Amino acid sequence: MTYLTVYGEDAELLQRTENPAEIAATLTEIGVRLRHWDLVATGPSADDVLAAYAEQIAKVNAAESYTFVDVVQLGPDADPEVAAGARAKFLNEHTHDDDEVRFFARGAGIFYLHVDGKVHAVLCEAGDLLSVPAKTTHWFDMGTRPDFCAVRFFHDDDGWVGAFTGDAISSRIPDFDTITAGR
Ligand SMILES: [Fe+2]
Repeated sequence: MTYLTVYGEDAELLQRTENPAEIAATLTEIGVRLRHWDLVATGPSADDVLAAYAEQIAKVNAAESYTFVDVVQLGPDADPEVAAGARAKFLNEHTHDDDEVRFFARGAGIFYLHVDGKVHAVLCEAGDLLSVPAKTTHWFDMGTRPDFCAVRFFHDDDGWVGAFTGDAISSRIPDFDTITAGR
């Protein structure tokens, strides 16, 4: 189930909830949309996942004009160096010129949305489709043992490139391992 923790910029805990209505209301206030898809059984490959959710994906593409969709996944058997490298890539605060839209078909990850002087840590789990608007200041933590499969939606080939803010705030806010352990 989705889990939202909100912190002040000094890491003070402001809100913590698993209530879907409360999470949706809080995210709506900052322009972030969270939807849920029914999970379906899929094979292990990216093509399997895209095929299993083809109908849902096509609806989102038609409604929101995404032109490219892919699948990123890591599991417990991933090479630790590969996992650490993947985690490090978007662990610092950044923005993108494109929306960041992810559907979690399996596993979990936390999007940290730094908006209006607060950090909204959204723990997404299987079935969650999170839409973060372009230019939203954020980072993502998949934890030290990543285990997730996510479908990503893009408007163009390079909108996903991160523009890093240089703010070290992500080092002050509890990380994926800490939040999931204390849940
Ligand atoms: Fe990002």
